[in-house]
Amino acid sequence: MKTLIIIGGSGHGKVCADIAELMGYKEILFLDNDESLRECGGHRVVGHGDDISSFGPDAEYFVAIGNAETRAKVTARILEQGGRLATLVHTSAVVAGSTRLGEGSTVMAGAVINPDAVLGRGCIVNTAASVDHDCNIGDFVHVAVGAHLCGTVSVGEGTWIGAGATVSNNVSICEGVMLGAGAVVVRDITEPGTYVGVPARRI
Ligand SMILES: CC(C)(COP(=O)(O)OP(=O)(O)OC[C@H]1O[C@@H](n2cnc3c(N)ncnc32)[C@H](O)[C@@H]1OP(=O)(O)O)[C@@H](O)C(=O)NCCC(=O)NCCS
Repeated sequence: MKTLIIIGGSGHGKVCADIAELMGYKEILFLDNDESLRECGGHRVVGHGDDISSFGPDAEYFVAIGNAETRAKVTARILEQGGRLATLVHTSAVVAGSTRLGEGSTVMAGAVINPDAVLGRGCIVNTAASVDHDCNIGDFVHVAVGAHLCGTVSVGEGTWIGAGATVSNNVSICEGVMLGAGAVVVRDITEPGTYVGVPARRI
């Protein structure tokens, strides 16, 4: 029986559980720091977020925490303790065979990843987002709902591409960027910070 332990019982966690069900995980359990939380998406919350040692060697883990820094820390803790990370891909996502998708990443419903894209560990390609050919996406990047990365875009670790944003082809975005919803990036972003608008400018 395939068991998945999801850390983080939020709305994001619920969506990840749904993907896991479609992928055939038979038992899905949650861990969350909120002691009053009993269930998420119809699955039991069975312990605190740090509580990963009590599951058998066959269990897999998935970190469903939106904040990139926290997601990275929890992922590191799981790996230190010898836990295995699941990678969750919705059955309706289109992922080219030559894609390299890091462990602990998720690709949600209707998302598209085109050939030779490389995505790091713990990435989120959210609902109906796209990552085009030859993109290079660092660890813990979130491409939010409906955002589009054109071909040969690179995105640094922990950067958040906001909902509906578009990044033109061949553009690089450094680590630590928060790109606002609906922004359009037409030239490289080399300084961490928050960027909004068309064309995207730092605020
Ligand atoms: C960019 C963002 C992070 C800024 O949040 P914030 O730091 O709290 O900033 P504020 O809401 O205080 O806004 C600061 C200014 O930027 C403007 N602004 C904020 N977000 C903007 C956006 N996406 N596009 C254009 N302008 C924006 C505000 O109108 C405000 O302008 P003002 O100073 O003239 O009034 C946030 O608005 C955003 O777009 N988040 C992305 C959400 C998202 O994509 N969620 C996806 C979930 S899957």
